[in-house]
Amino acid sequence: MSTAFTHLLLKWNKNSNHRPMPWKGELDPYKIWLSEIILQQTRVEQGWDYYEKFVKKYPTIFKLANAKDEQVFKLWEGLGYYNRCRNLLHTARYIVDKYEGIFPNTYEALLALKGIGPYTASAIASFAFNLPHAVVDGNVFRVFSRFYGIATAIDTKEGVQLFNKIAFENLDKKKAGLYNQALMDFGATICKPMAPLCHSCVMQKTCVAFNSNQINVLPIKLKQIQKRKRYFDFFIFNYQNNWLLQKRGNEDIWAGLYQFYLVENNSLLPVNHDYLQQVLQNQLALKNKEVISSMVSAPVHQLLTHQQLTIRFIEVALKSKPAVFSKAIWVPKTKLRNYPFPKVIIDFLKNR
Ligand code: ADE
Repeated sequence: MSTAFTHLLLKWNKNSNHRPMPWKGELDPYKIWLSEIILQQTRVEQGWDYYEKFVKKYPTIFKLANAKDEQVFKLWEGLGYYNRCRNLLHTARYIVDKYEGIFPNTYEALLALKGIGPYTASAIASFAFNLPHAVVDGNVFRVFSRFYGIATAIDTKEGVQLFNKIAFENLDKKKAGLYNQALMDFGATICKPMAPLCHSCVMQKTCVAFNSNQINVLPIKLKQIQKRKRYFDFFIFNYQNNWLLQKRGNEDIWAGLYQFYLVENNSLLPVNHDYLQQVLQNQLALKNKEVISSMVSAPVHQLLTHQQLTIRFIEVALKSKPAVFSKAIWVPKTKLRNYPFPKVIIDFLKNR
């Protein structure tokens, strides 16, 4: 037992934490790793399904390591940020090759793996091996900044160091796994970002933020991330119910996924005759007589960590198959679901 906070947290966990989750109490580092990587991408409710699908299809690290890239991407579809999925595959194969499929059991060796940062290394080390490492994520920043009334910005070097120190001081070194999971559950269900349940909180009497009316101010963030604005127009070329798909390169977001023909602009251009002419005729040498009709969707907005996307879909029915798309593939509409797409395209296809 380390501090008054630790005591209260574990008491709450024992008496009041009823949050069943499939990875809770799991001791297999492979499955813990899977769950943590998925949960970096999405909320628990949605991650639950993905976790179960992954564990069912790839119950061991050997199965994942031997899987085809595209199959794994397909299962990952909808979670976004495909680099995480790529790292997952890379690390599974690395562990199979280098460690005969046995997950490393020290914090340092875990941290050395691709895609595993301090948070995930601590989670695996504590959940699988009960090693005394404290997880520090958004939940943890929030809970400690409120409980101790700390106004140091969490997105500064100083803040990160301070909260790491506090996290370690409060960690129950003998029950690190239990404690870490309790802290995450507490942050997610009681000390929530919005409308925390202070009225029923066991920490209420000693929580600085509660007692000084700072619940809604803490934690403090210095800078809102500046987001790069990008405007994507996807041209859906339709030739006799075959749709044109292209595979994305590796340098940008959505690497390796499929998409419709993309035109990116610096602003949201009106889709008028000039614009269509510029793209269809000037860019693709598609003559007016080769186009049957075109249709434009309303813009859809998507926020990524550092980017703000505005996306439209422009459907263009073609009379003939243009030679200009030699590298693209034409896929019957009914077969589209066999290809991995970014989430925004999946959503578009669903609503059509
Ligand atoms: N978010 C990240 N890891 C988690 C876990 N183990 N339980 C609940 N939420 C989480």
